[in-house]
Parts: sequence; structure tokens; C-alpha cells
Amino acid sequence: MTEPPVLLDRRSGVPLAVQLADGLRSSPVLRVGDRLPSTRQLASTLGVSRTVTAAAYDQLLAEGWLEGRRGVGSFVVGTPPAAPVDRRSRPDPTPSVAVDLRPGAPCLEVLDRAAWRRAWRAAGDEPPDVGWDPIGTPAFRTAVVEHLLRHRGLPADPDDVLGTSGTSAGVAEVARLLPPGSRVGVEDPGYGRAVGALLATGVTVVPLRVDHDGLVVDEVPAGLAAVYCTPAHQFPLGGRLPAARRVALVEWARAEGTLVLEDDYDGELRYDVAPLPLLASLAPDVVVHLGTTSKVLSPTLGVGWLVAPRPLRDRLVEARTATGTRPARAGQRVLAALAGHGDLSRHLRRLRRELAARRDLVRGAVADAGHRTVGDAAGAHLVVPLADRATEERVRADALAGGVAVDGLARHTTAAGGPAGLVVGWAAPTRAELVDALAVLTGALRGVRP
Ligand SMILES: Cc1ncc(COP(=O)(O)O)c(C=O)c1O
Repeated sequence: MTEPPVLLDRRSGVPLAVQLADGLRSSPVLRVGDRLPSTRQLASTLGVSRTVTAAAYDQLLAEGWLEGRRGVGSFVVGTPPAAPVDRRSRPDPTPSVAVDLRPGAPCLEVLDRAAWRRAWRAAGDEPPDVGWDPIGTPAFRTAVVEHLLRHRGLPADPDDVLGTSGTSAGVAEVARLLPPGSRVGVEDPGYGRAVGALLATGVTVVPLRVDHDGLVVDEVPAGLAAVYCTPAHQFPLGGRLPAARRVALVEWARAEGTLVLEDDYDGELRYDVAPLPLLASLAPDVVVHLGTTSKVLSPTLGVGWLVAPRPLRDRLVEARTATGTRPARAGQRVLAALAGHGDLSRHLRRLRRELAARRDLVRGAVADAGHRTVGDAAGAHLVVPLADRATEERVRADALAGGVAVDGLARHTTAAGGPAGLVVGWAAPTRAELVDALAVLTGALRGVRP
């Protein structure tokens, strides 16, 4: 028998029986086949008279949502009809999204499901263990070291690698170790979740200007405890921080005693441009390098890593031990198995090929619509600059009316007067869906001037 929690508001003016019927009908805990308590039982639980529960059940029986079985009880038989809605108080319904071109999701179309299954099976073959592990399994850390060396040119020692549950979690862990009242600089426009993770730790966030090349290093103010940035592919504008700015940033950080958080969220994805040195390889003493599987595999794996200067790494391990925080081993085992079988490298090769082809499709379509793209030398999203926020909103609304969701830069900035444009991702849909969505998007773009 299922006793669903229902909130009744005696002051609302809506009869209690109506509130109860609505509450049962829309309860997320009830499923077809569930038996409800008797009217007497429910009345006693809710502290209402039995007339109320009986009237509510009568209503639901009349609707065919509930069925009474003599001597057994009342059972849910219908999927809940849409709850009555006061249309005057609701905005127009959002058109349904057929294809999502907002950045963020990975490309699952190229994931070799057999390799994925094999890795999970291998992970499951390892017996459970009881050891306390705030660092990450040795096999996982070795896999990360190989990955960093091969794909990111970063030499690291397995002891320097800490497993995380993702980049945002790693950013928060580091921020919690900063002195009280610390100020942390973040790119603006920038990654909202990193900002959210920082704010939740109590630090003050200071917006830092970015241009088409990424962080404008010589405008970063003094007095920051840390700077969070995305040098490989600035999120969301897409710039790749030039070598000179990289060197200037780490030299400035050394002189200031500031920590640099290098979010390398899609650093594995780079097209027809030469690699640039990671901040962590230029200055491992002041840079915390953060990597994730969210973009190249799936955020549901919950696996990331960070490489921090040794004293900070030790403090992170201490803090984890003190607070009972540790990265989950299951996803680490899967990643280690994928890497061990060579499946990870194969997957990355396939992913790069597919995403490069899709990038060309997006660039070509946007150019055909008479617009320019920026920030498309890496990653899985680009920006289509637009004249102003009103135009950005109009194109987004037109695309959405055609079933295609795209982001605008407005969503990624705190500055009212920041740049305007669309942020178009190409990883999430299938290739066929992307082609259809681009027809809708270019239709919307043709309606506005570049
Ligand atoms: C800029 C940026 N950093 C990091 C991530 C991934 O974060 P996490 O590893 O917490 O899923 C994303 C994912 O969308 C991102 O856009």
C-alpha cells in the first residue's frame, strides 16, 4: 500500500477534497497498480475528516483514475491526467525541443557500446574493497597520467593526480581551502557552474574580461587568491589563450602568490591548429589542472581529475580525510578499463573525427546564412556573434519555435553590456538530427543582419 505525502492548505480557499484529489492525481510517488490507503486511514494520517477523503476518492473514481476492488481496496489505474492549470498565471507553454544544440552534452553517437559494456564488466569483476581511498585507484591515476601525457602533453606523476567527481566539484574543493574572505577571479562570460561552485564555498567572485583570445591577462586585478580560467577553449566564447598570455598569466600568478585553476574541460578536442602548452606544464607550482570525462564520455560517469602543486594536493587529501569526501571508485574503474584496452584512445580518435566533421557542417551552414563564426578551433561549440541581445533573443526564439534549442551568450555572463551571440553546440544530437536542426537555425539566422 502506498501512502503518498500530500500537502493540504486550509487557508487557500480551495476545498480540501479538491486539493486532495489534485495532490493524489499529480503525486510523483504513485504508479499504476499502487493501492491507496482506506479513506479512514488517510483521513487519520492527514488529520482531516473522512468526508474529505471519501469525496476525493469519489472524484478520482469518477475520473477513472482510481478503481475500487471490493474487499481489497482502491487502486491507481490511470496515468494522471494533466493537472488543472490556471492558464492566466502561466506563461505560454515552451515549444517542445526536438534537437538540443546547447553546449554541454557529450557525443554519444560515436561511443562503441560494446567497449563501454566491456569496461563496465571489467569494473564489476573487481571485488569490492573496504579500504579508505581519498585519492583514486592506482590504475585510474596511471590511466590519467598516460592520458595527460599523450593527449595534453602534461607530464605528471600518478601521486600528483587526485580523482574527482568532475571539474565543478574539484573547483569547489580547492576554493574551500582558500583563506576566509578570499576573492577569486572568473572569466566573464564564463562557466556558470564553476561560478556557482565557487560562490557556494563563500568566496567572492570577481568577473574578469575575456576577448576573442580568452582571458585578458593584463587586466586581471591584484589581490586575488585564485583565478579560474579555460585556456584551451574559453567557455563560452571559444578563444584559445595565446602562448604569450599563458606565460604572462603564470608569471603574474607567481609574483602575486595567486593560484590558477586551469579548467581543461574539452582540451582533447582540437582541430587543425597546433597544440599550446598547458598552464600546468608552464608552472606546475601555481596551477591546478582540472580534467573531466564529462565531455569526452559522459557526465554521468562522475569522473574527473586534478593535478595540483604538492603542498595543495596534500591539503586536499587531508581535507577529504577529515570530511569523509572521496571520489567514487566505480567510474574510475570503468575509465581505467577503457584506457587499459585501448578503447579510450580509439574512442577519442573517432570522437575527434566526428566532431570535426560536424564542426564543418555547422560552420558551413552559418556561413551560408550570411553569418560569421568564432571560437571553433577546438571543442564542440562555437559562437555566432550577433548585433545585440534583442537579436540574440529573437533568433533563439525563432529556432525554438522550430524545435531547436540554442544558447545565447546572455545566459553565460553577469555583464548587461557583454557581447551578444548564439552559442551553438554540435555534440549532443545525432548527425542526422544536427543536419535537420541546422536548417531551422539558418532559417532563423537569415532573418537578422550579421
Ligand atoms: C567550461 C566547462 N567546464 C567543465 C565542464 C564539466 O564539468 P563537470 O566535470 O563538473 O561535469 C563543462 C561541462 O559542460 C564545461 O562547460
